[in-house]
Amino acid sequence: MSKNISNEPLKASVIQPGFDRSGLTSRIVHLGFGAFHRAHQGLYTSEMLALTGSDWGICEINLFGGEELIKQLRQQDHLYSVLEKDAANPVVKISGAVTESLHPELDGKQAVLAKMADPEIEIVSLTITEKGYCADLSTGHLDSNNGLIKADLSHPSEPQSAIGYIVEALRIRKENGDKPFTVMSCDNIQGNSHVARQVVLDYAAELNSDLHDWIESEVTFPCTMVDRIVPAITEESSAALAEQLGIADPCGIVCEPFRQWVIEDNFVSGRPDWGVAGATFVEDVIPFENMKLRMLNGSHSFLAYLGFLGGFKYIYQTMADKDYRTAAHKLMTDEQATTLSMPEGTDLTAYANLLINRFANTAIAHETYQIATDGSQKLPQRMCESLRYHFAKGNSVTWLTLGLAGWMVYVGEKDERGGSIEVRDPMLSEIRSQLAGAKSPEQIVKALLSIEQIFGTDIKQNQAFVEQLIQAVANVKELGARGAVAAALAKQTN
Ligand SMILES: NC(=O)c1ccc[n+]([C@@H]2O[C@H](COP(=O)([O-])OP(=O)(O)OC[C@H]3O[C@@H](n4cnc5c(N)ncnc54)[C@H](O)[C@@H]3O)[C@@H](O)[C@H]2O)c1
Repeated sequence: MSKNISNEPLKASVIQPGFDRSGLTSRIVHLGFGAFHRAHQGLYTSEMLALTGSDWGICEINLFGGEELIKQLRQQDHLYSVLEKDAANPVVKISGAVTESLHPELDGKQAVLAKMADPEIEIVSLTITEKGYCADLSTGHLDSNNGLIKADLSHPSEPQSAIGYIVEALRIRKENGDKPFTVMSCDNIQGNSHVARQVVLDYAAELNSDLHDWIESEVTFPCTMVDRIVPAITEESSAALAEQLGIADPCGIVCEPFRQWVIEDNFVSGRPDWGVAGATFVEDVIPFENMKLRMLNGSHSFLAYLGFLGGFKYIYQTMADKDYRTAAHKLMTDEQATTLSMPEGTDLTAYANLLINRFANTAIAHETYQIATDGSQKLPQRMCESLRYHFAKGNSVTWLTLGLAGWMVYVGEKDERGGSIEVRDPMLSEIRSQLAGAKSPEQIVKALLSIEQIFGTDIKQNQAFVEQLIQAVANVKELGARGAVAAALAKQTN
């Protein structure tokens, strides 16, 4: 066996799981062993286990990609490391919550389904990215034109999509007379588990009405608000982690010290006491989700498009630019916080200040390009909902408009230096076909606003906004992104 974190001595400063892993049972299946889950739910679970001595282990499953990661995880006894990093005080923790792992390419689809259908599994949690839900996010319903869904509906016992796996596993449970599992989404989607519930029910309805009704009445889908900045691992961050650990960890991940997890307390049967590790259980997660999606993620998208176009590789570099920093803060406080209705005592100004400081952490190399991916899936909940709120009130929307203009220029696939941008987005072909022949800012804006899956049918009806957006696109194209941000600030202070 190769040398790895499970069989080699680690530096004394490394924080070990601190509990007996042999007592764990797989009671959670997690779909999406990506960067975020490892640094968030995986670590919360490990810390909860150390504090409670309970047996809630996780079976990790990647449905798409990540075969090598799963193989590597197995070689190191399902242990992995997390470096929590700010400039002053790096901390490395070993997560011990993972009991086993599966991958359809390595183990076959039936092994994955058998694990999910095992009545010992009480929770199926998800970080499968927005596109994993196969939803039309403008309606919240299943996208019946999605290729994976079409294929799964024709062969439901050989699924490919996460939704297909969940419904087939629930079908087996029902057939066997077993209780169902809870489905808990931890993706950054507004009403994340409500979306999961809707697509699962839409899919089940296509197959069998009894199954649909059983899922509707028996399965719970608690929403969650998740927060921690976890950039994709790079050679540089991997080397920084190895330095702190004393050995390389191909499953390791680097993140910021901050983390937050708010969970709707609505589980079919049991749930771990994640509260001891700092999670908060509430009756209604939606206000917290909206706070985070609009203030954090909305300003992240703003910085990603305008930052990338302006030549900034990392978010912390955009924060070192006074104009971008001020603009992001104004977006948060003037145009996102104002749309929220929070429980009493929530201090949104303090939250905005905390976000600006987190974005400025130079130890976290979060690429603008990474945050810019999949914009079509992200903009509806990060920006469009706030636009609708302001339209109804007749408020001005300088920063939301500029952020959307940044996206519209970005998806044109040309950067400011004449180079091409490799846009990653599941709707890229539709975006391209809409943009075909569109040259002027007016043509670009009208072409893109007509994509109803992103902008609905209403946003393009607001003529004053459309004019403002055309001007913002013209500014980004003529002045460059940095010039457009500076011009918008100058206009506001005049
Ligand atoms: N990285 C962050 O800072 C962060 C913060 C908060 C929330 N999130 C949420 O976590 C999600 C995952 O982010 P990440 O950083 O772990 O990304 P990642 O690229 O490291 O992992 C993506 C995971 O999604 C799975 N996946 C991708 N497409 C899928 C599909 N069509 N069906 C099923 N599974 C699919 C992959 O197998 C992989 O495990 C994001 O989409 C976001 O909603 C991330």
